[in-house]
Amino acid sequence: MNITDSFGLKGKTILVTGASSGIGRSVAEHIVKAGGRVVITGRNEVRLNETFQLLDTKRDLQYAGDLTSDDFPEQLAAQAPQLDGMVYCAGFVHSFPIKFLNDSKIRETMRINFESAVLLTSKLLRLKKFNNRASLLFLSSISSEFPHKGGTLYCASKAALETFTKTIAVEYAHQGIRANYLRPGMVITPMYDKAKADASSEVMDAHIARYPLGPGQPEDIALAALYFLSPASRWVTGTGLIMDGGLTLDNK
Ligand SMILES: NC(=O)c1ccc[n+]([C@@H]2O[C@H](COP(=O)([O-])OP(=O)(O)OC[C@H]3O[C@@H](n4cnc5c(N)ncnc54)[C@H](OP(=O)(O)O)[C@@H]3O)[C@@H](O)[C@H]2O)c1
Repeated sequence: MNITDSFGLKGKTILVTGASSGIGRSVAEHIVKAGGRVVITGRNEVRLNETFQLLDTKRDLQYAGDLTSDDFPEQLAAQAPQLDGMVYCAGFVHSFPIKFLNDSKIRETMRINFESAVLLTSKLLRLKKFNNRASLLFLSSISSEFPHKGGTLYCASKAALETFTKTIAVEYAHQGIRANYLRPGMVITPMYDKAKADASSEVMDAHIARYPLGPGQPEDIALAALYFLSPASRWVTGTGLIMDGGLTLDNK
């Protein structure tokens, strides 16, 4: 295989969740630039359509909906065409000290960050929507291994997502289906703005100052996603990539 084919996505159709914002939007744009076709989904119709307008609107597809609802994952799985991969970027962060946690807060984070990923993947697999040699990629976080104060739910949800990813890799290797995760540090997206509002500008500025290469941009994550989706990573499954501009080197 030549280098262009190895790293390209020509002829591949990829489902991208969380495509109405931040990392998911950039991932969708880059897949199309690499020659692939995307099926994008997000909750906010207006912002999802803004992403759609950046793509090839004659070829690509968009489905707006809430992945935590009872019906939408089922509908999405049924409507989706045959897929060569998925990038699960939908996610939510809200920090609380442990003593303030309760059922509804646990549910709010675990549902979209973990359960919806499991349910959507399960439905797509049951409907045989993933072609042989499909590549599934999940957005985890360095928080899964390096927890922060107030991060019980976010950190635990990402650790659970990583374990789920490894289980898919074991169960579906016989079809050549691969599953991996990315572990970014701080990336400048609307989620970063939310984290800043939850903490404070001072706390976030001090955190950002600890990144030897500075904070990440959505494009940094999207470029790594292209590798995991493409045939170049055909022997890579059940693993993850830390992308943090060198931050965690200091913590080890
Ligand atoms: N930014 C970072 O620093 C960072 C670092 C490490 C890992 N990550 C992970 O990377 C992923 C993308 O993060 P981001 O920074 O791009 O966040 P973002 O800009 O806040 O985007 C989150 C996306 O998730 C979607 N989403 C949330 N709840 C949903 C629901 N119930 N149903 C359907 N879609 C839902 C949002 O849809 P709507 O906006 O349409 O509601 C949005 O498209 C997340 O999993 C996050 O945990 C981010």
